[in-house]
Amino acid sequence: MRAIGRDPVFAERGDGAELVDVDGNRYLDYVCSWGPLILGHANPGVVEAVRDAAARGTSFGVPTGAEIALAGEVAERFRSVEMTRMVNSGTEAAMSALRLARAATGRDAVVKFAGAYHGHVDGLLAEAGSGLATHGLPASPGVTAAQTAETVVVPWNDSDAVRAALAERPVAAIIAEPVPANMGVVQPRKGFLELLRAAADEHGALLVLDEVISGFRVARGGAQELYGVDADLTVMGKVLGGGLPAAAFGGRRELMERVAPAGDVYQAGTLSGNPLAVAAGLATLVQLDAAAYGRLGALTGRLAAGLREAAGDRPVQVASVCGLLTVFFNDEPVSDFAAASACDLDAHARFCRALLERGVYAPPSQFEAWFLSLAHDEAAIDRTVEAAAEAFQDVSA
Ligand SMILES: Cc1ncc(COP(=O)(O)O)c(C=O)c1O
Repeated sequence: MRAIGRDPVFAERGDGAELVDVDGNRYLDYVCSWGPLILGHANPGVVEAVRDAAARGTSFGVPTGAEIALAGEVAERFRSVEMTRMVNSGTEAAMSALRLARAATGRDAVVKFAGAYHGHVDGLLAEAGSGLATHGLPASPGVTAAQTAETVVVPWNDSDAVRAALAERPVAAIIAEPVPANMGVVQPRKGFLELLRAAADEHGALLVLDEVISGFRVARGGAQELYGVDADLTVMGKVLGGGLPAAAFGGRRELMERVAPAGDVYQAGTLSGNPLAVAAGLATLVQLDAAAYGRLGALTGRLAAGLREAAGDRPVQVASVCGLLTVFFNDEPVSDFAAASACDLDAHARFCRALLERGVYAPPSQFEAWFLSLAHDEAAIDRTVEAAAEAFQDVSA
């Protein structure tokens, strides 16, 4: 909220597509807890499942049948995932997946993309140095140069930079958000994910796709289904936990069997596979059938088209993929972090403030995605578009 010059909204409760603040103001919520709430707030099926699970005990420290059922749901949706390890956050999942990738390849370096976010793993809080594919520099105080020294940061959608990075040194993994949503939504250029897959194979690196946002959202089988590219390791979170803390990483059996206790790569967590989080995740996934994705895609399309029309000939780009959207204040389509950073951030801030005044809570940063839920109906979308038409006028005034 500082980015748009406002105090934070303090939540009192959520109700379907709406967030209610402590002063009783209702907002159409396009943040949805930054992604987990694909069914909206307080979905009855999820609430009931969590209540039932809590009544049976909140944590055991031994496996449950529900964990196995959730791993089964994941494997059924992601053909590249045969085994899954549950953890508590996307950060933990990304960190653990990279540990496994380093162990499996016997290499240290990791390639990541500028503007992509994989949680606050020290080594991944790295910024590009000067040059095409240099070692990363710490992006936060408290992160040491040694921690980012094995992270190579390259521009998204830049095939030459990827090739250069892999040619220069042995790389354990390329880690990517297959549809980056943390620089705003920036789709991969045609063929770019295929290039990552081929380059990883050619150089003996693993392709780690971070589907913490895209998984269970852009399609039933995530971005891997949408774009037809398989990962070696997949990082999952958000929707997987249905609004409670659950995340996971998974992949081929022979890789995952390196993870302790089956294998020698240490990984553990007191509350991993927590029964409440697993219950919320399962209760969410069972509602996400093909029809649900058809509906989410149609709602996203309606909102994107409405926003484009409301923007008229202003220098605005609306980027969208099923369940995700970004309004960029830029006169060119945005294809990487440099372009996202060149947007008119002040216009974006005024737009968000104007939306909030009209009861629409869009993410208050140019570098985040709007998250749609299945609780957003056509009437909510149309109300949003009306508010946006007025908000665009405020920005131009
Ligand atoms: C793509 C991606 N990966 C990883 C993470 C980290 O997840 P968590 O916040 O659960 O640690 C996020 C969080 O927003 C994310 O968007």
